[in-house]
Amino acid sequence: MDAIVVTGGRQLSGSVATSGAKNAALPILFATLLADGDHVLENVPALRDIDSTELLLRALGCRTSRDGHSLNVNVSRPDEALAPYDLVRKMRASILCLGPLLARYGEARVSLPGGCAIGTRPVDLHVDTMRRLGADVSVEAGYVIARAERLKGARILFEKLTVGGTENALMAAVLAEGETLIENAAKEPEVVDLVHFLRAMGAKIEGEGTSVISVTGVDALEPARHAVIPDRIEAGTLLLAGAITGGNVRVTACNPAHLEALVAKLRECGFDLAQGDDWLEVLPAAAWNSTDLTTAPYPGFPTDLQAQFMALMTQASGTSVITEGIFENRFMHVQELVRLGADITPMALVAVVRGKRGGLSGAEVMATDLRASASLILAGLIAGGTTRVNRIYHLDRGYEHLEKKLAALGADIRRVDGS
Ligand code: UD1
Repeated sequence: MDAIVVTGGRQLSGSVATSGAKNAALPILFATLLADGDHVLENVPALRDIDSTELLLRALGCRTSRDGHSLNVNVSRPDEALAPYDLVRKMRASILCLGPLLARYGEARVSLPGGCAIGTRPVDLHVDTMRRLGADVSVEAGYVIARAERLKGARILFEKLTVGGTENALMAAVLAEGETLIENAAKEPEVVDLVHFLRAMGAKIEGEGTSVISVTGVDALEPARHAVIPDRIEAGTLLLAGAITGGNVRVTACNPAHLEALVAKLRECGFDLAQGDDWLEVLPAAAWNSTDLTTAPYPGFPTDLQAQFMALMTQASGTSVITEGIFENRFMHVQELVRLGADITPMALVAVVRGKRGGLSGAEVMATDLRASASLILAGLIAGGTTRVNRIYHLDRGYEHLEKKLAALGADIRRVDGS
């Protein structure tokens, strides 16, 4: 299995472009199931999670083809609206086919998902949503089985804010009979991007980007063309890579408005940043301060940047208290950062990081999930000697050639065959 080998000590500098957002592309790909015919999606990143989604769409009767970052999906009725365990287990986001399949075909059998093992990550809110819309749902032998002749608009009040749950609700409600009101909806830019795609298909939706979204169901939708938004998590990771090396990195093709929470935290630490309409640049810093952090739903600080920010805090002057506010078990990277010499005490949902410039030294570490892999690579960029990050398949699920992007900025980093 591939590993990433990084030798620390190089200051990064230069310009690097952001790829399309994984977390916007995935729901949008599943939303294509809502209308037969040819959809064209642009700015789709080349990632393992996108490959997994393509395989699942093919199993559901679609034909897909890629030309660079453009992905064509031809949708036609499958023999059976079945998402089998084999294809679903690799990626938790596969649960997002539940809403579209049920809305379109009146039935769906979707395996319970796998994906990153962060916290328990149940799917109860997805299941409850389909019930609210009038479906009969049971869980049998590891499958969610849902049926409804036609879904009926309803009021859906999420007791807990959920990105995927909001997306599934939207994709089911667009073809339901009557009006649906989604309250305590997720405001993430990826949800807004999904709404833009659904609207291009002919859906009637209002209120995206706020906590109340209303949907008026229509009888049928049309295939559409759409360009996926830039990946704010990748852009943030690249900025943090520049910051942790004290370097000067400009991240282009991003949306600075989506990264305000990170930029504010970096400024609090004493970093200078410049920005334009579609770029952000971190300026060189010889030292920086610690700051406390709590992850929260958008526009709060994203949980998907928590591990990478923690790597930066290992090099700060002072102590940082990092609180994970979204997931129960998202500190698995702590043990690995400690192997590199970091001084971190994890306590349930809080980690106390005692920062110190320098102090990390290369070691062999293991990537435990997608964002943890990025955190370990960032730490490797400033650790003395060589760090080898194993189990890199997690990284490939969500970052398009991260090692190549970092190497182009001057990092000493390469992928090796670890078998
Ligand atoms: C999405 C993102 C992921 C990000 C997360 C939070 C995608 C493909 N993934 O994941 O990268 O970290 O948002 O921003 O877009 N929950 C339940 N029951 C459910 C669903 C969720 O209890 O049925 C809980 C989760 O365990 C978690 C919280 O709700 O504690 C938020 O999860 P959610 O927003 O649903 O995350 P995902 O959509 O899975």
